[in-house]
Amino acid sequence: MNAAERTTDTSCLMRTYRAYSRIMVRGAGTRLYDQDGREYLDFLSGLGVNNLGHCHPAIVEAVQRQAATLIHACNLYGIELQLRLAEELCRRSIFDKVFFCNSGAEAMDGALKLARLHAWNRGERKRTGFLAMEGSFHGRTFGAMSVTSPRKVREGFEPLPAEARFARFNDAAHAAELADDSICAVVVEPVIGEGGVIPATREFLQALRELCDARGMALIFDEVQCGLGRIGWPFAYEHFGVEPDIVTLAKGLAGGLPMGAILARGDWSATFQPGQHGATFGGNPLSASAALAYLGELFDKRLWERAAELGEYLTGKLRETLKPMQCVKEVRGLGLMLGIVLDREAAPVVRKALEHGLLVNDTAERVIRLLPPFIITREECDRAVEILHECLNDVKDDAVKA
Ligand SMILES: Cc1ncc(COP(=O)(O)O)c(C=O)c1O
Repeated sequence: MNAAERTTDTSCLMRTYRAYSRIMVRGAGTRLYDQDGREYLDFLSGLGVNNLGHCHPAIVEAVQRQAATLIHACNLYGIELQLRLAEELCRRSIFDKVFFCNSGAEAMDGALKLARLHAWNRGERKRTGFLAMEGSFHGRTFGAMSVTSPRKVREGFEPLPAEARFARFNDAAHAAELADDSICAVVVEPVIGEGGVIPATREFLQALRELCDARGMALIFDEVQCGLGRIGWPFAYEHFGVEPDIVTLAKGLAGGLPMGAILARGDWSATFQPGQHGATFGGNPLSASAALAYLGELFDKRLWERAAELGEYLTGKLRETLKPMQCVKEVRGLGLMLGIVLDREAAPVVRKALEHGLLVNDTAERVIRLLPPFIITREECDRAVEILHECLNDVKDDAVKA
C-alpha cells in the first residue's frame, strides 16, 4: 500500500475503543509494525490470541492451503476439518463433545444456554440462575455480560437476560452461601484476566467442584484467556487438578482466526438437540484448518512447557527489577499471563511503553497486563523488563490519585 492509499480516518468506526495512536499493518514473529514502519515488541499477542507469534508459518500454510480448497460450507453438511478438530480437542482433554462458534463471548453464551437447558431437561425448571465471580469478565453479548460483574461493562444495558449473583473470588464460603436451588451453573475464570490477572487458588476451585456436585449445578471454566497453553498447561483446569463439566475456549484456538468452542462432558455433552443451538460460521473449514495447525504446534512441541519456563523467567526478572520500585505493589500471574500491579493508573505507563516500542495493556485500572507469545526469547523478556523499568521510572514521581 503506498502512502496515498493509507488512511488514519476513524470517523466511520463506532467509538467502542479508545482513540488509536497507532495503526498496525504487518506482523512477524514477536514483532508488529505500524503504518510508518515502526517496530514493536509485542507482549500482548493481540490480547492473548497470537500465541505462536504473528504469521507463524504453520498457521499461514494451513490458511493458504485451505483458502484455496474450501473456505465455507455451512453446518448442514459435515465439515471434515471440523470433525478432526473436535476429535483432537476431545482426545487431548477430559471432554466428550465440542460445539464451535466464533468468539469467547459466543462460547460463554452457548455454555450458559447449555447449563440452563440441562437443568430444564431434568425437570428443574426453576433452576435458571448463575453464580459467577466478582471481577469476572466473560464477554460482551447480553448472555456473557449477565455473568460479567464490573459495573462499567453492565451499566446502561440492564436488565440483562440471565440472572446472576456474584461471589467474592477465592472465597468458597461466600460461593456456598449464594448457591441455592435457583442456580444451574457456577461460572469461573481459573485465572481472572480482564479483572487484573488474578489466579484462583486450587482450594477454591476444588470447593466449587464439590459445591456443584453436592447441589446439582454445572461447573463452567472460562479458559478463553488462560487456556490452550498460556498458563503452562494445555488446559487451565489441568494446572489446578479440578475437572469442570464445561469449558469455553476462543482467543488462541485458531492462531488468529475467529473461533470459539464449548467443550462438555457426560450428560452436558449430550444436552443440545438439533435446532437448540447453532452458528453459521462455527467450525468453518478455514478456521478449523488454522486451529488444527495451532494444536499441532502446541502438542508436537509441547509449547505449554515453554510458556511455563519463560513465564518463570519473566516473573523472576520483573520481580527482581520492578518490585523494588515504590509504585509497584505486586507481580502476579501464571505462565505467560502476568500482571504488574501498581499503586496508580497503569494507562500512562502503557502509553509510554508504546512510545518505547513495547506493546502491553492496562486492565482493572492499575494493572499492566503481559500476554507475550510463547515464542519470545529470554533476551526479549530482558528487553521488555528494561523498557517497563524506564517507563515506570518516568511516572514514579507523578502524584498518585486516591
Ligand atoms: C476470560 C474471557 N472470556 C471471554 C472473553 C470474550 O471473548 P471475545 O472477545 O472473543 O468475545 C474474554 C475476552 O477478553 C475473556 O478474557
